[in-house]
Amino acid sequence: MSVKKLKHLEIQTEHEADKLLIEKVIASGQEHVFRWWNALTENEQKKLLSQLKLIDFALIQDLIDKYVKENKHTSQKTATLKPPGIIPIPQNDLQKTRAIEAKGIGEKAIKSGSVAVVTVAGGLGTRLGADRPKGTLPISPIMGKSIFQLHAEKIQAIMKRCETTLPWYIMTSINNDEMTREFFEENRYFGLNTDNVSFFTQGELPVIDLQGKLLMDSKSSIVTNPNGHGGTLFALKEKGILSNMKERGIKHVFYHQVDNVLIKIADPIYLGYHISEGAKMSPKAVQKINPEEKVGIIGIRDGHLDTIEYSELSDEDKYARNPDGTLRFGMGSPAIYLLDVDFVERINESNVKLPYHKAVKKAPYIDENGGKVKPIKNNAIKFEMFIFDALELAKKSIIMEIIREDEFSPIKNDKGESSPDTARQNMINLFGRWLKGAGIEIPTDEDGNVKGVIEISPLYALDAEELKSKVNKDLVFNGELNLQ
Ligand code: UTP
Repeated sequence: MSVKKLKHLEIQTEHEADKLLIEKVIASGQEHVFRWWNALTENEQKKLLSQLKLIDFALIQDLIDKYVKENKHTSQKTATLKPPGIIPIPQNDLQKTRAIEAKGIGEKAIKSGSVAVVTVAGGLGTRLGADRPKGTLPISPIMGKSIFQLHAEKIQAIMKRCETTLPWYIMTSINNDEMTREFFEENRYFGLNTDNVSFFTQGELPVIDLQGKLLMDSKSSIVTNPNGHGGTLFALKEKGILSNMKERGIKHVFYHQVDNVLIKIADPIYLGYHISEGAKMSPKAVQKINPEEKVGIIGIRDGHLDTIEYSELSDEDKYARNPDGTLRFGMGSPAIYLLDVDFVERINESNVKLPYHKAVKKAPYIDENGGKVKPIKNNAIKFEMFIFDALELAKKSIIMEIIREDEFSPIKNDKGESSPDTARQNMINLFGRWLKGAGIEIPTDEDGNVKGVIEISPLYALDAEELKSKVNKDLVFNGELNLQ
Protein backbone atom coordinates (compact mmCIF):
# COMPACT_ATOMS: atom_id res chain seq x y z
CA MET A 1 0.00 0.00 0.00
CA SER A 2 1.41 3.38 -0.93
CA VAL A 3 0.86 6.31 1.37
CA LYS A 4 0.85 9.94 0.38
CA LYS A 5 1.20 12.44 3.21
CA LEU A 6 -0.92 15.49 2.70
CA LYS A 7 -0.61 18.06 5.43
CA HIS A 8 -2.52 16.50 8.32
CA LEU A 9 -3.97 13.56 6.50
CA GLU A 10 -2.59 10.48 4.94
CA ILE A 11 -4.00 9.41 1.62
CA GLN A 12 -3.74 5.70 1.17
CA THR A 13 -4.06 4.17 -2.25
CA GLU A 14 -3.59 0.62 -3.36
CA HIS A 15 -2.91 1.38 -6.95
CA GLU A 16 0.06 3.09 -8.48
CA ALA A 17 -2.20 4.86 -11.02
CA ASP A 18 -4.27 6.36 -8.18
CA LYS A 19 -1.12 7.51 -6.45
CA LEU A 20 0.09 9.25 -9.61
CA LEU A 21 -3.31 10.88 -10.07
CA ILE A 22 -3.35 12.16 -6.50
CA GLU A 23 0.16 13.53 -6.93
CA LYS A 24 -0.92 15.27 -10.12
CA VAL A 25 -3.90 16.87 -8.38
CA ILE A 26 -1.72 18.04 -5.51
CA ALA A 27 0.96 19.38 -7.88
CA SER A 28 -1.78 21.38 -9.62
CA GLY A 29 -2.53 23.19 -6.37
CA GLN A 30 -5.91 21.46 -5.96
CA GLU A 31 -5.14 19.36 -2.86
CA HIS A 32 -8.20 20.74 -1.04
CA VAL A 33 -10.33 18.23 -2.98
CA PHE A 34 -8.94 15.55 -0.63
CA ARG A 35 -9.90 17.51 2.48
CA TRP A 36 -12.43 14.87 3.58
CA TRP A 37 -10.58 11.87 2.16
CA ASN A 38 -10.13 10.02 5.45
CA ALA A 39 -13.80 10.35 6.30
CA LEU A 40 -14.96 8.97 2.95
CA THR A 41 -16.04 5.39 2.41
CA GLU A 42 -14.05 3.33 -0.05
CA ASN A 43 -16.77 3.81 -2.64
CA GLU A 44 -16.80 7.55 -2.16
CA GLN A 45 -13.01 7.63 -2.53
CA LYS A 46 -13.34 5.69 -5.77
CA LYS A 47 -16.05 8.06 -6.99
CA LEU A 48 -13.84 11.09 -6.36
CA LEU A 49 -10.85 9.51 -8.09
CA SER A 50 -12.89 8.43 -11.09
CA GLN A 51 -14.14 11.99 -11.51
CA LEU A 52 -10.63 13.45 -11.16
CA LYS A 53 -9.26 10.93 -13.64
CA LEU A 54 -11.33 12.52 -16.41
CA ILE A 55 -9.88 15.97 -15.87
CA ASP A 56 -7.18 17.32 -18.12
CA PHE A 57 -5.21 19.14 -15.42
CA ALA A 58 -2.79 20.69 -17.95
CA LEU A 59 -5.78 22.27 -19.72
CA ILE A 60 -7.26 23.49 -16.43
CA GLN A 61 -3.92 25.03 -15.49
CA ASP A 62 -3.78 26.83 -18.86
CA LEU A 63 -7.30 28.15 -18.36
CA ILE A 64 -6.49 29.32 -14.84
CA ASP A 65 -3.32 31.06 -16.06
CA LYS A 66 -5.18 32.80 -18.86
CA TYR A 67 -8.51 33.59 -17.30
CA VAL A 68 -7.79 33.90 -13.58
CA LYS A 69 -4.18 35.03 -13.30
CA GLU A 70 -4.10 37.21 -16.45
CA ASN A 71 -7.83 37.91 -16.09
CA LYS A 72 -8.54 37.68 -19.82
CA HIS A 73 -12.19 37.72 -20.79
CA THR A 74 -12.57 35.21 -23.62
CA SER A 75 -10.60 34.26 -26.65
CA GLN A 76 -10.73 38.00 -27.50
CA LYS A 77 -11.22 38.13 -31.20
CA THR A 78 -10.06 41.52 -32.35
CA ALA A 79 -9.48 42.03 -36.02
CA THR A 80 -10.81 43.66 -39.13
CA LEU A 81 -14.37 42.66 -39.83
CA LYS A 82 -16.28 42.49 -43.10
CA PRO A 83 -19.90 41.55 -43.70
CA PRO A 84 -20.29 38.12 -45.30
CA GLY A 85 -22.12 37.30 -48.54
CA ILE A 86 -25.62 36.05 -47.71
CA ILE A 87 -28.27 34.06 -49.57
CA PRO A 88 -31.15 36.49 -49.10
CA ILE A 89 -34.79 35.75 -48.43
CA PRO A 90 -36.12 35.30 -51.99
CA GLN A 91 -37.72 38.50 -53.29
CA ASN A 92 -37.36 38.42 -57.07
CA ASP A 93 -38.10 35.67 -59.59
CA LEU A 94 -34.46 34.64 -59.97
CA GLN A 95 -34.05 34.19 -56.21
CA LYS A 96 -37.33 32.28 -56.03
CA THR A 97 -36.26 29.95 -58.86
CA ARG A 98 -32.93 29.32 -57.10
CA ALA A 99 -34.73 28.49 -53.86
CA ILE A 100 -36.97 26.00 -55.69
CA GLU A 101 -33.91 24.36 -57.27
CA ALA A 102 -32.18 24.19 -53.90
CA LYS A 103 -35.29 22.63 -52.35
CA GLY A 104 -35.19 19.85 -54.96
CA ILE A 105 -31.54 19.10 -54.17
CA GLY A 106 -32.21 19.13 -50.42
CA GLU A 107 -35.21 16.83 -50.68
CA LYS A 108 -33.22 14.43 -52.80
CA ALA A 109 -30.54 14.27 -50.08
CA ILE A 110 -33.15 13.64 -47.38
CA LYS A 111 -34.82 10.94 -49.49
CA SER A 112 -31.48 9.23 -50.09
CA GLY A 113 -31.01 8.91 -46.31
CA SER A 114 -27.85 11.02 -46.20
CA VAL A 115 -29.16 13.54 -43.65
CA ALA A 116 -29.40 13.30 -39.86
CA VAL A 117 -30.54 15.66 -37.13
CA VAL A 118 -28.47 16.57 -34.07
CA THR A 119 -30.30 18.38 -31.29
CA VAL A 120 -28.13 19.84 -28.57
CA ALA A 121 -29.87 19.60 -25.22
CA GLY A 122 -27.01 19.38 -22.75
CA GLY A 123 -27.29 22.91 -21.35
CA LEU A 124 -28.34 23.51 -17.76
CA GLY A 125 -31.17 25.92 -18.57
CA THR A 126 -30.15 28.07 -15.61
CA ARG A 127 -31.97 31.17 -16.80
CA LEU A 128 -35.21 29.23 -17.23
CA GLY A 129 -34.76 27.74 -13.79
CA ALA A 130 -36.73 24.53 -14.44
CA ASP A 131 -35.67 21.37 -12.63
CA ARG A 132 -36.29 19.21 -15.71
CA PRO A 133 -34.53 19.15 -19.08
CA LYS A 134 -35.67 22.08 -21.25
CA GLY A 135 -36.89 19.76 -23.99
CA THR A 136 -39.50 18.30 -21.62
CA LEU A 137 -41.17 21.69 -21.11
CA PRO A 138 -44.88 21.60 -22.11
CA ILE A 139 -45.12 24.30 -24.74
CA SER A 140 -47.63 23.77 -27.55
CA PRO A 141 -50.48 26.30 -27.23
CA ILE A 142 -53.43 23.91 -26.79
CA MET A 143 -52.21 20.35 -26.31
CA GLY A 144 -49.29 21.31 -24.07
CA LYS A 145 -46.93 19.08 -26.07
CA SER A 146 -43.30 19.20 -24.98
CA ILE A 147 -40.56 20.79 -27.07
CA PHE A 148 -39.15 17.28 -27.68
CA GLN A 149 -42.53 16.10 -28.96
CA LEU A 150 -42.76 18.99 -31.41
CA HIS A 151 -39.29 18.15 -32.76
CA ALA A 152 -40.21 14.46 -32.92
CA GLU A 153 -43.41 15.19 -34.87
CA LYS A 154 -41.49 17.35 -37.36
CA ILE A 155 -39.03 14.50 -37.90
CA GLN A 156 -41.91 12.05 -38.28
CA ALA A 157 -43.61 14.33 -40.81
CA ILE A 158 -40.45 14.76 -42.90
CA MET A 159 -39.89 10.99 -42.90
CA LYS A 160 -43.41 10.44 -44.12
CA ARG A 161 -43.17 13.12 -46.77
CA CYS A 162 -39.79 11.91 -48.07
CA GLU A 163 -40.40 8.17 -47.46
CA THR A 164 -37.11 7.81 -45.68
CA THR A 165 -35.54 7.68 -42.23
CA LEU A 166 -34.13 10.78 -40.61
CA PRO A 167 -32.00 9.57 -37.70
CA TRP A 168 -32.14 11.80 -34.64
CA TYR A 169 -29.18 12.18 -32.28
CA ILE A 170 -29.76 14.09 -29.05
CA MET A 171 -26.86 15.45 -27.06
CA THR A 172 -27.39 15.53 -23.31
CA SER A 173 -25.04 16.09 -20.39
CA ILE A 174 -24.56 14.10 -17.21
CA ASN A 175 -26.99 16.33 -15.31
CA ASN A 176 -29.95 15.63 -17.61
CA ASP A 177 -29.13 12.48 -19.57
CA GLU A 178 -31.14 10.08 -17.42
CA MET A 179 -34.19 12.34 -17.20
CA THR A 180 -34.13 12.91 -20.96
CA ARG A 181 -33.96 9.20 -21.75
CA GLU A 182 -36.71 8.44 -19.23
CA PHE A 183 -38.91 11.10 -20.81
CA PHE A 184 -38.55 9.49 -24.22
CA GLU A 185 -39.23 6.04 -22.73
CA GLU A 186 -42.34 7.26 -20.89
CA ASN A 187 -43.63 8.82 -24.10
CA ARG A 188 -42.73 5.81 -26.25
CA TYR A 189 -40.37 7.93 -28.31
CA PHE A 190 -43.39 9.88 -29.59
CA GLY A 191 -44.01 7.17 -32.13
CA LEU A 192 -40.50 7.20 -33.59
CA ASN A 193 -38.64 3.96 -34.08
CA THR A 194 -36.12 3.60 -31.24
CA ASP A 195 -33.47 2.52 -33.77
CA ASN A 196 -33.55 6.01 -35.17
CA VAL A 197 -33.25 7.97 -31.92
CA SER A 198 -29.93 8.03 -30.04
CA PHE A 199 -28.66 9.92 -27.04
CA PHE A 200 -25.06 10.81 -26.33
CA THR A 201 -23.54 12.80 -23.50
CA GLN A 202 -21.15 15.66 -23.93
CA GLY A 203 -17.92 16.29 -22.01
CA GLU A 204 -17.68 18.12 -18.70
CA LEU A 205 -15.18 20.56 -17.25
CA PRO A 206 -14.56 21.42 -13.62
CA VAL A 207 -15.95 24.70 -12.31
CA ILE A 208 -13.42 26.83 -10.42
CA ASP A 209 -13.79 29.61 -7.88
CA LEU A 210 -12.57 33.13 -8.58
CA GLN A 211 -9.11 32.17 -7.27
CA GLY A 212 -8.82 29.16 -9.55
CA LYS A 213 -9.61 26.39 -7.04
CA LEU A 214 -11.91 23.51 -8.02
CA LEU A 215 -15.29 23.87 -6.32
CA MET A 216 -16.64 20.86 -4.41
CA ASP A 217 -20.18 19.64 -4.88
CA SER A 218 -20.02 17.16 -2.01
CA LYS A 219 -17.21 15.70 0.08
CA SER A 220 -16.54 13.21 -2.69
CA SER A 221 -17.30 15.11 -5.87
CA ILE A 222 -16.33 18.31 -7.60
CA VAL A 223 -18.62 20.75 -9.38
CA THR A 224 -18.57 20.31 -13.15
CA ASN A 225 -20.25 22.01 -16.08
CA PRO A 226 -21.03 20.72 -19.59
CA ASN A 227 -18.24 21.86 -21.93
CA GLY A 228 -20.46 24.02 -24.15
CA HIS A 229 -22.25 23.34 -27.42
CA GLY A 230 -18.84 23.33 -29.11
CA GLY A 231 -18.36 20.06 -27.22
CA THR A 232 -20.79 18.48 -29.69
CA LEU A 233 -18.07 18.21 -32.33
CA PHE A 234 -15.89 16.10 -30.06
CA ALA A 235 -18.64 14.13 -28.32
CA LEU A 236 -19.89 13.00 -31.75
CA LYS A 237 -16.56 11.28 -32.28
CA GLU A 238 -15.89 10.10 -28.71
CA LYS A 239 -19.34 8.59 -28.26
CA GLY A 240 -19.22 6.67 -31.55
CA ILE A 241 -21.94 8.74 -33.21
CA LEU A 242 -19.77 9.66 -36.19
CA SER A 243 -19.06 5.98 -36.87
CA ASN A 244 -22.74 5.22 -36.58
CA MET A 245 -23.53 8.02 -39.03
CA LYS A 246 -20.95 6.76 -41.50
CA GLU A 247 -22.32 3.22 -41.29
CA ARG A 248 -25.75 4.61 -42.13
CA GLY A 249 -24.42 6.60 -45.08
CA ILE A 250 -25.07 9.97 -43.47
CA LYS A 251 -23.17 12.88 -44.97
CA HIS A 252 -24.94 15.99 -43.69
CA VAL A 253 -25.95 16.87 -40.15
CA PHE A 254 -28.67 19.38 -39.38
CA TYR A 255 -27.62 20.89 -36.02
CA HIS A 256 -30.02 22.88 -33.85
CA GLN A 257 -30.56 23.82 -30.24
CA VAL A 258 -33.36 22.18 -28.32
CA ASP A 259 -34.91 25.45 -27.18
CA ASN A 260 -35.96 26.91 -30.55
CA VAL A 261 -39.63 25.97 -30.91
CA LEU A 262 -39.94 27.28 -34.47
CA ILE A 263 -37.01 25.28 -35.84
CA LYS A 264 -37.45 24.15 -39.46
CA ILE A 265 -35.81 20.79 -39.05
CA ALA A 266 -33.71 19.66 -42.05
CA ASP A 267 -34.92 22.61 -44.15
CA PRO A 268 -34.48 21.27 -47.72
CA ILE A 269 -33.75 24.69 -49.27
CA TYR A 270 -30.89 25.27 -46.84
CA LEU A 271 -29.61 21.73 -47.42
CA GLY A 272 -29.80 22.24 -51.18
CA TYR A 273 -27.69 25.40 -51.14
CA HIS A 274 -25.18 23.81 -48.77
CA ILE A 275 -24.82 20.68 -50.90
CA SER A 276 -24.69 22.39 -54.29
CA GLU A 277 -21.96 24.74 -53.08
CA GLY A 278 -19.93 21.89 -51.60
CA ALA A 279 -20.06 23.64 -48.21
CA LYS A 280 -18.78 21.97 -45.05
CA MET A 281 -20.34 24.05 -42.26
CA SER A 282 -23.10 26.53 -43.00
CA PRO A 283 -24.95 28.85 -40.64
CA LYS A 284 -28.40 30.33 -41.00
CA ALA A 285 -28.60 34.04 -40.22
CA VAL A 286 -31.30 36.33 -38.92
CA GLN A 287 -31.55 40.15 -39.05
CA LYS A 288 -30.77 41.74 -35.69
CA ILE A 289 -33.76 43.55 -34.19
CA ASN A 290 -31.58 46.55 -33.28
CA PRO A 291 -27.85 47.26 -32.85
CA GLU A 292 -28.06 46.51 -29.12
CA GLU A 293 -29.64 43.08 -29.46
CA LYS A 294 -27.42 40.68 -27.55
CA VAL A 295 -26.73 38.09 -30.24
CA GLY A 296 -23.49 37.07 -31.88
CA ILE A 297 -23.12 38.42 -35.42
CA ILE A 298 -21.85 36.57 -38.45
CA GLY A 299 -18.94 38.29 -40.17
CA ILE A 300 -15.69 37.73 -42.01
CA ARG A 301 -12.82 38.13 -39.57
CA ASP A 302 -9.37 38.27 -41.15
CA GLY A 303 -10.63 36.42 -44.19
CA HIS A 304 -12.46 33.69 -42.25
CA LEU A 305 -16.15 33.29 -41.57
CA ASP A 306 -16.80 33.67 -37.87
CA THR A 307 -19.35 34.56 -35.25
CA ILE A 308 -18.42 37.50 -33.11
CA GLU A 309 -20.01 37.69 -29.71
CA TYR A 310 -22.04 40.75 -28.86
CA SER A 311 -19.59 41.73 -26.12
CA GLU A 312 -16.65 41.58 -28.51
CA LEU A 313 -18.11 43.82 -31.20
CA SER A 314 -16.70 47.38 -31.15
CA ASP A 315 -19.24 50.22 -30.95
CA GLU A 316 -18.09 51.38 -34.37
CA ASP A 317 -19.00 48.01 -35.93
CA LYS A 318 -22.14 47.64 -33.81
CA TYR A 319 -23.73 50.86 -35.09
CA ALA A 320 -22.25 50.91 -38.63
CA ARG A 321 -24.93 51.21 -41.35
CA ASN A 322 -25.05 50.43 -45.06
CA PRO A 323 -26.06 53.21 -47.50
CA ASP A 324 -29.63 51.81 -47.44
CA GLY A 325 -29.82 52.25 -43.68
CA THR A 326 -29.56 48.57 -42.74
CA LEU A 327 -26.96 47.49 -40.17
CA ARG A 328 -23.57 46.70 -41.73
CA PHE A 329 -23.16 43.84 -39.24
CA GLY A 330 -26.82 43.02 -38.92
CA MET A 331 -26.75 39.26 -39.42
CA GLY A 332 -27.30 37.62 -36.06
CA SER A 333 -26.78 33.93 -35.42
CA PRO A 334 -29.83 31.78 -34.59
CA ALA A 335 -27.42 28.89 -33.86
CA ILE A 336 -28.60 26.69 -36.73
CA TYR A 337 -25.92 24.91 -38.74
CA LEU A 338 -25.36 22.28 -41.37
CA LEU A 339 -22.21 20.27 -40.75
CA ASP A 340 -20.76 17.64 -43.02
CA VAL A 341 -19.78 14.37 -41.38
CA ASP A 342 -16.35 14.41 -43.06
CA PHE A 343 -15.77 17.93 -41.72
CA VAL A 344 -16.47 16.85 -38.13
CA GLU A 345 -14.27 13.82 -38.67
CA ARG A 346 -11.42 15.99 -39.94
CA ILE A 347 -11.68 18.31 -36.92
CA ASN A 348 -11.29 15.29 -34.66
CA GLU A 349 -8.49 13.71 -36.64
CA SER A 350 -6.47 16.86 -37.02
CA ASN A 351 -6.63 17.39 -33.27
CA VAL A 352 -7.89 20.94 -33.65
CA LYS A 353 -8.87 22.55 -30.39
CA LEU A 354 -11.65 25.08 -30.09
CA PRO A 355 -10.98 27.99 -27.72
CA TYR A 356 -12.65 28.03 -24.30
CA HIS A 357 -14.82 30.97 -23.34
CA LYS A 358 -15.10 32.09 -19.75
CA ALA A 359 -18.36 32.83 -17.96
CA VAL A 360 -18.48 34.14 -14.40
CA LYS A 361 -21.63 32.75 -12.78
CA LYS A 362 -23.18 31.58 -9.54
CA ALA A 363 -22.52 27.94 -8.68
CA PRO A 364 -23.62 26.18 -5.47
CA TYR A 365 -20.78 24.38 -3.66
CA ILE A 366 -19.75 23.11 -0.25
CA ASP A 367 -17.43 25.24 1.85
CA GLU A 368 -14.42 24.07 3.89
CA ASN A 369 -16.75 23.01 6.71
CA GLY A 370 -18.76 20.82 4.37
CA GLY A 371 -21.81 23.10 4.46
CA LYS A 372 -23.81 23.66 1.28
CA VAL A 373 -23.58 27.25 0.01
CA LYS A 374 -26.03 28.81 -2.46
CA PRO A 375 -24.20 31.95 -3.47
CA ILE A 376 -25.99 35.24 -3.99
CA LYS A 377 -23.07 36.76 -5.91
CA ASN A 378 -21.04 35.35 -8.79
CA ASN A 379 -18.52 32.99 -7.24
CA ALA A 380 -17.51 30.67 -10.04
CA ILE A 381 -15.85 30.50 -13.44
CA LYS A 382 -17.23 28.11 -16.04
CA PHE A 383 -15.55 27.29 -19.32
CA GLU A 384 -17.34 26.43 -22.55
CA MET A 385 -16.53 25.79 -26.19
CA PHE A 386 -18.84 27.36 -28.76
CA ILE A 387 -19.87 25.54 -31.94
CA PHE A 388 -19.43 28.65 -34.09
CA ASP A 389 -15.68 28.71 -33.43
CA ALA A 390 -15.49 25.82 -35.89
CA LEU A 391 -16.77 28.02 -38.75
CA GLU A 392 -13.34 29.31 -39.60
CA LEU A 393 -12.14 25.73 -40.08
CA ALA A 394 -14.61 25.07 -42.89
CA LYS A 395 -13.18 25.42 -46.40
CA LYS A 396 -16.56 26.49 -47.70
CA SER A 397 -19.80 27.75 -46.14
CA ILE A 398 -23.05 29.23 -47.30
CA ILE A 399 -25.01 31.63 -45.10
CA MET A 400 -28.75 31.64 -45.56
CA GLU A 401 -30.93 34.40 -44.19
CA ILE A 402 -34.19 33.41 -42.55
CA ILE A 403 -37.28 35.23 -41.36
CA ARG A 404 -37.10 35.39 -37.57
CA GLU A 405 -40.86 35.11 -37.05
CA ASP A 406 -40.95 31.93 -39.12
CA GLU A 407 -37.98 30.06 -37.73
CA PHE A 408 -36.48 31.44 -34.56
CA SER A 409 -38.07 31.63 -31.13
CA PRO A 410 -35.78 30.24 -28.44
CA ILE A 411 -36.75 29.73 -24.81
CA LYS A 412 -34.09 31.13 -22.53
CA ASN A 413 -35.89 32.90 -19.68
CA ASP A 414 -38.74 32.08 -17.34
CA LYS A 415 -40.61 35.32 -18.10
CA GLY A 416 -40.40 38.22 -20.55
CA GLU A 417 -38.18 38.08 -23.62
CA SER A 418 -37.43 34.62 -25.10
CA SER A 419 -39.65 32.85 -22.60
CA PRO A 420 -42.34 30.13 -22.84
CA ASP A 421 -44.94 32.92 -23.24
CA THR A 422 -43.21 34.48 -26.27
CA ALA A 423 -42.55 31.04 -27.78
CA ARG A 424 -46.26 30.13 -27.55
CA GLN A 425 -47.36 33.44 -28.99
CA ASN A 426 -44.84 33.13 -31.83
CA MET A 427 -46.17 29.65 -32.64
CA ILE A 428 -49.75 30.92 -32.65
CA ASN A 429 -48.79 33.86 -34.88
CA LEU A 430 -46.96 31.60 -37.32
CA PHE A 431 -49.99 29.30 -37.60
CA GLY A 432 -52.17 32.39 -38.01
CA ARG A 433 -50.06 33.54 -40.99
CA TRP A 434 -50.27 30.05 -42.54
CA LEU A 435 -54.05 30.12 -42.20
CA LYS A 436 -54.29 33.63 -43.65
CA GLY A 437 -52.17 32.38 -46.57
CA ALA A 438 -54.80 29.68 -47.07
CA GLY A 439 -57.49 32.36 -47.28
CA ILE A 440 -58.89 32.06 -43.74
CA GLU A 441 -59.57 35.21 -41.81
CA ILE A 442 -57.57 35.47 -38.60
CA PRO A 443 -58.03 38.59 -36.46
CA THR A 444 -54.93 40.20 -34.93
CA ASP A 445 -54.43 42.93 -32.34
CA GLU A 446 -52.45 46.17 -32.70
CA ASP A 447 -49.16 44.30 -32.00
CA GLY A 448 -49.92 41.80 -34.76
CA ASN A 449 -50.68 38.98 -32.31
CA VAL A 450 -53.47 36.58 -33.20
CA LYS A 451 -56.61 37.17 -31.13
CA GLY A 452 -57.15 33.63 -29.97
CA VAL A 453 -55.24 30.39 -29.80
CA ILE A 454 -54.15 28.07 -32.63
CA GLU A 455 -52.25 24.82 -32.69
CA ILE A 456 -51.26 22.94 -35.84
CA SER A 457 -49.45 19.67 -35.34
CA PRO A 458 -46.46 19.10 -37.64
CA LEU A 459 -48.18 15.82 -38.44
CA TYR A 460 -51.15 17.76 -39.84
CA ALA A 461 -49.05 20.33 -41.73
CA LEU A 462 -45.33 20.93 -41.72
CA ASP A 463 -45.53 24.24 -43.56
CA ALA A 464 -47.84 26.82 -45.11
CA GLU A 465 -48.15 24.98 -48.44
CA GLU A 466 -49.16 21.72 -46.80
CA LEU A 467 -51.71 23.50 -44.65
CA LYS A 468 -53.16 25.25 -47.71
CA SER A 469 -53.56 21.93 -49.48
CA LYS A 470 -55.40 20.36 -46.53
CA VAL A 471 -57.42 22.93 -44.67
CA ASN A 472 -61.11 23.55 -45.27
CA LYS A 473 -61.25 26.96 -47.00
CA ASP A 474 -64.69 27.67 -45.50
CA LEU A 475 -63.38 27.35 -41.98
CA VAL A 476 -64.40 30.21 -39.70
CA PHE A 477 -61.95 30.95 -36.88
CA ASN A 478 -63.87 31.36 -33.63
CA GLY A 479 -60.90 32.08 -31.36
CA GLU A 480 -59.61 28.53 -30.98
CA LEU A 481 -58.38 26.10 -33.61
CA ASN A 482 -56.61 22.82 -33.01
CA LEU A 483 -55.49 20.86 -36.07
CA GLN A 484 -53.91 17.51 -35.18
P1 UTP B 1 -27.71 28.24 -23.85
O1 UTP B 1 -26.50 28.44 -23.05
O2 UTP B 1 -28.27 29.38 -24.60
O3 UTP B 1 -28.90 27.70 -22.97
O4 UTP B 1 -27.47 27.03 -24.82
P2 UTP B 1 -28.94 26.73 -21.73
O5 UTP B 1 -27.64 26.10 -21.46
O6 UTP B 1 -30.07 25.81 -21.97
O7 UTP B 1 -29.37 27.72 -20.56
P3 UTP B 1 -28.53 28.67 -19.59
O8 UTP B 1 -27.49 29.36 -20.44
O9 UTP B 1 -27.97 27.80 -18.52
O10 UTP B 1 -29.59 29.60 -19.09
C1 UTP B 1 -28.03 26.99 -26.09
C2 UTP B 1 -28.28 25.55 -26.48
O11 UTP B 1 -27.09 24.80 -26.43
C3 UTP B 1 -27.26 23.67 -25.60
C4 UTP B 1 -28.44 23.99 -24.71
O12 UTP B 1 -29.07 22.79 -24.27
C5 UTP B 1 -29.31 24.81 -25.63
O13 UTP B 1 -30.03 23.97 -26.51
N1 UTP B 1 -26.03 23.48 -24.83
C6 UTP B 1 -25.45 24.50 -24.19
C7 UTP B 1 -25.52 22.22 -24.77
O14 UTP B 1 -26.07 21.25 -25.35
N2 UTP B 1 -24.40 22.02 -24.03
C8 UTP B 1 -23.76 23.02 -23.38
O15 UTP B 1 -22.74 22.77 -22.73
C9 UTP B 1 -24.31 24.30 -23.47
